[in-house]
Amino acid sequence: MEKISVGILGATGMVGQRLIQLLENHPWFEVKCVAASPRSAGKSFQKAVEGRWAMNSEIPEAVGQLKVLDVEEDMRQIADNISLTFSALNMEKTKIREIENAYADMGVPVVSNNSAHRWTEDVPMIIPEINPHHLDLIPIQQKNRGWNNGFIVVKPNCSIQSYVPIIEALKEFGPDQVIVSTYQAISGAGKTLETCPEIIDNVIPFIKGEEEKSEREPLKIWGKISGGKIENAKDPVISSNCIRIPVSDGHLVAVNIRFKRKPTKNQIIESIRNFKNPIDGLGLPSAPDPFLVYFEENDRPQTRLDRMAGKGMSVSVGRLREDDVLDWKFVALSHNTIRGAAGGAILIAELLKAKGFIE
Ligand SMILES: NC(=O)c1ccc[n+]([C@@H]2O[C@H](COP(=O)([O-])OP(=O)(O)OC[C@H]3O[C@@H](n4cnc5c(N)ncnc54)[C@H](OP(=O)(O)O)[C@@H]3O)[C@@H](O)[C@H]2O)c1
Repeated sequence: MEKISVGILGATGMVGQRLIQLLENHPWFEVKCVAASPRSAGKSFQKAVEGRWAMNSEIPEAVGQLKVLDVEEDMRQIADNISLTFSALNMEKTKIREIENAYADMGVPVVSNNSAHRWTEDVPMIIPEINPHHLDLIPIQQKNRGWNNGFIVVKPNCSIQSYVPIIEALKEFGPDQVIVSTYQAISGAGKTLETCPEIIDNVIPFIKGEEEKSEREPLKIWGKISGGKIENAKDPVISSNCIRIPVSDGHLVAVNIRFKRKPTKNQIIESIRNFKNPIDGLGLPSAPDPFLVYFEENDRPQTRLDRMAGKGMSVSVGRLREDDVLDWKFVALSHNTIRGAAGGAILIAELLKAKGFIE
């Protein structure tokens, strides 16, 4: 099978690098264009990331030799050579919206890691295992904008991917109140332990904009399509505290949750273990099996031990206990730059291909 040519906007950054690592030897996709700011443009990719390649594997040879293009100046050239682009840009939101719109307008499907379009009414925000049906918004979006082959799909913030999948598995019990504390890795800020001295021996109780995202984005994911846009779900109500801790990768969360119909411990475990996954059977190369991993041990999941479950695409959960204030509490974990960013975006692209949205 001939592979689908893809581009990466923001290829030199933390998420861009992870995309390059995960797409090496991908059975369906091949990286043909890497693009970034004028600071990197014109250099070979290898040269552009000299001293800041943060992955634990070598730069794939073919990508290392690609010339980095300018996301804006070289737009036409990039669009003409790819059938889909991932966007991992980190710049002003209005500018990102403009750039992503321009690529879609030139016929390129865009799968974005950025928050710029998450609240655009006709742009679906997808976790493939939860709301693949929201892709039905794509033809509506194309009609609204007069786009033919191009469109934009976004993935949600990394912080929510550790707990929203667990709550999804428990939907039949009517979760209506959630309190979540996140313990987030510094790669979520595009940094490594070496480039973030302020986090050593420290905990930083503030991540700009993160609490709003972690409280609101799940409601769009659980929303329904109505009148050509997503109507947000009304519950559960979520209250969050987002905290940066000194780990390289992996967002751990502690969750307290109330239900309309309180389940038993066995019912919770059964629902997690028997999660009905809507993308099962599609043969998506990056889909983990199982999606949700339940731990009996008191001290799991742990960030360093468990973040790579399912090659970084599974969500782990444990420490399930009754809660005297709400009903139940648990701890969950996912890899923020794999499941929460690059891997999640690749899984969306695979879903788009399986559903016939990419030519
Ligand atoms: N890190 C995570 O865990 C995570 C998780 C979910 C979502 N996200 C989101 O993903 C996006 C990327 O995050 P990141 O951590 O990878 O950021 P990052 O490491 O700061 O990388 C940013 C990328 O954007 C490019 N860029 C910056 N200014 C530009 C400009 N004026 N024109 C063109 N390109 C420009 C940079 O190119 P140069 O190298 O040339 O400057 C670089 O390739 C962000 O929106 C972030 O919120 C991140």
